[in-house]
Amino acid sequence: MSNQNNQILKNTNAQILDEFNASIMFDKELYAQDIKGSIAHSAMLCEQGILTKDEQEAIEKGLLQVKNEIESGEFKFSLVYEDIHMAVESRLTEIIGEPGKRLHTARSRNDQVATDFRLYVQEKSLSIKSQLKELVETFVNVASKHTKTLIPGMTHLQHAQPLNFGYHMLAYANMFKRDYERFESSYERNNYSPLGSAALAGTPHNINRDSTCEKLGFKAPTAHAMDTVSDRDFALEILFNISTSMMHISRIAEELITWSSYEFQFVRMSDEYATTSSIMPQKKNPDVPELLRGKTGRVYGNLISLFTVMKGLPLAYNKDTQEDKEGVFDSVKTIEISISILNEVIKTMIVNVDKMESACKIGHLSATDLADFLVQKKGMPFRTAYYITKDVVTCANSLNKDISELSIDEIRSANDELKEIDDEIVMYLDLRNSMNARTSFGGTSTQQTEIQIENFKKWLENN
Ligand code: ARG
Repeated sequence: MSNQNNQILKNTNAQILDEFNASIMFDKELYAQDIKGSIAHSAMLCEQGILTKDEQEAIEKGLLQVKNEIESGEFKFSLVYEDIHMAVESRLTEIIGEPGKRLHTARSRNDQVATDFRLYVQEKSLSIKSQLKELVETFVNVASKHTKTLIPGMTHLQHAQPLNFGYHMLAYANMFKRDYERFESSYERNNYSPLGSAALAGTPHNINRDSTCEKLGFKAPTAHAMDTVSDRDFALEILFNISTSMMHISRIAEELITWSSYEFQFVRMSDEYATTSSIMPQKKNPDVPELLRGKTGRVYGNLISLFTVMKGLPLAYNKDTQEDKEGVFDSVKTIEISISILNEVIKTMIVNVDKMESACKIGHLSATDLADFLVQKKGMPFRTAYYITKDVVTCANSLNKDISELSIDEIRSANDELKEIDDEIVMYLDLRNSMNARTSFGGTSTQQTEIQIENFKKWLENN
C-alpha cells in the first residue's frame, strides 16, 4: 500500500473512532444543565477561595456567552470535543483564556455528567408530571359530562355489566394520577446532588458540596462518591415511569381504535386525528391512536436497553454508561408528544351516547342483578341463584330478547323457583337501575361516580 493510501486509511479510522467514541451529537441536549452546573461549581470554588472573584466572574460571563452561542445556532459542535462537557469548557477557554482552564478543579467529567443528566431527568420529571395532571383533568371533564351515559362494561372483551361512560373515563384518570405520583416520588428519591463526587473517590480540595447542591436546587448532596458516579437508577426510574404511562396511553389508544370502528361507533375522533387510505378512498384510519400504541414499543425498548447496559458494570464509571442518554431523550420526547396528542384526542372526541346505550341491550348485562336479587331478597345461596338466572338468560335468548326486556310473566315462566317472584324484579333488570345499583365504594353508580369526580376535583386543586 502506498504511503498516501495508508495515510487516508489512518485518517478514516481516526474519524470513525472519534465518531464511535463521541457523544456530542446527542449529549448537546444537556448544554443548559452543563452550563448551570459549571456556574454553580465555579461559584462554590470562589466561595472556598479556590478561584478568585475575577476568575469566577470571567468564567460565569464566558459560560453565559457559550450558552448564547449555542442557543443562537452559532456554536460549532465538533467531534473533536467528544462530548458537551469538553466542548463547553474548550469554547470557554477560547473566550476567556487562563481562568477557563481552572474551571475543572475538583471535578471530573464523571460527576459532571452525573449531575447534568440528573438535572435533566429531574426537570423532565416535573414537566411530564404537570402534563399528566392536565391529562387527568381532561378525563375528569369528559367523565363529568357522562355520569349517566350507559356503556357496556366488558371482561374478556365480552359484554359484562352496564357502566356509565364517565366511570370508564375515570379509570384512566386514576391510571394517570398514579403515573403523576410515580414521577413525583422518583423526583423526591433522586433529588440529591452528585456534584463534588469527582472521579470516584471525592477530592482533596476543600470543596463545599452543600453549596453547589443548594445552587442547583437539590435537597442534599449524595452520600457516596463512588456510588454516585456509577449509579443510573434515576435514569432507569424515569424510563420505567414513562413506560408505565405509555402502557396506559396505549390501552386508551386501543379502546379508541375499537370504539371508533364501524362495529362499535361509540366515539368519533376529530378528522385531524384520522387519515385516509392511499388505495381505498372511502376509508378513515385511526393512525394517531395507532401510533400512540405503537410508540410504546420503543419506550419499553429504551428501558430494557439501559437495564442491559448497567447489569454487568463493575464500579465505578465505565464508558458503557455513555449509552444511558439517547434512550432517555427519546423516551422523554415520545411521552411529551404522546401526552399532548392524547389530551387533544380526548378533548375533541365525539361521544355517541345512543350507540353506547343501545349496545347495552346486547348480552344480558343485568343478569347478575337477578342473581343478586334472589340472594338479597330471597335468601338464596348465590350459586343456586346463578343457575336459576342462567335459565332466564336461556329463556330471553329463545325469545330473541335481552334480559332487561323480559316481562314479568316471561321471567316467571323461566324456572319453577321464579313462579311467584315479585314484579319489582323487572325494575331490577332495567339497565340504568343495574348500573345505579352498584353503590359500593369505588363502584359505577352515578352517585359513586360523582363522588369520585368530586375527589378528583379536590386533588386537581391541591396538586
Ligand atoms: N461523555 C461521557 C458520558 O456521557 C462523559 C463522561 C466521560 N468520563 C470519562 N472518564 N470518559 O458518559
